[in-house]
Amino acid sequence: MSRRALLTAGFLLTARLPAGTPLRAEAPQGTNESRLPSLGSESAPLPAGAGKNLALASCSVCHSTEMLRQQRLSRSQWTAELNKMIGWGARVAPQDKAVLLDYLAKRFGPANSRFRPLLSPPSGE
Ligand code: HEC
Repeated sequence: MSRRALLTAGFLLTARLPAGTPLRAEAPQGTNESRLPSLGSESAPLPAGAGKNLALASCSVCHSTEMLRQQRLSRSQWTAELNKMIGWGARVAPQDKAVLLDYLAKRFGPANSRFRPLLSPPSGE
């Protein structure tokens, strides 16, 4: 194909795109992907309560608040979890531990219904 024919073909292809057509594919509408927050944009709010600010300060340093919101742990499981996170580097002052534990156990206990996982279709469908 001559250079001129290539240029014409390129022009015709481009000219057929309606104005404003994004050149990159976006997540298809109506799928769960389009409802997922983009990474790093926003953290789900923590419910009110004494201990909320402690949780924000001590626990949202390394991961999102969803890590707390999605749990359904008993008080003894939260105790173990809190100690594990402190072992991993979470900074919780000894005098704040009881308030934080109380907040976590009450807000994200076995009856917690705050977190509803989005069901994603298997990839390829
Ligand atoms: C020093 C970093 C760090 C801090 C601070 C931290 N975490 Fe974590 N946390 C992690 C890592 C790493 C994981 C594992 C993440 C994964 O598996 O994707 C995790 C996972 C979790 C999980 C999921 C269960 C598990 O054990 O994997 C919970 C619940 C949790 N953290 C609660 C907390 C709470 C409550 C605090 C505040 C007291 C906190 N985290 C502070 C690093 C941290």
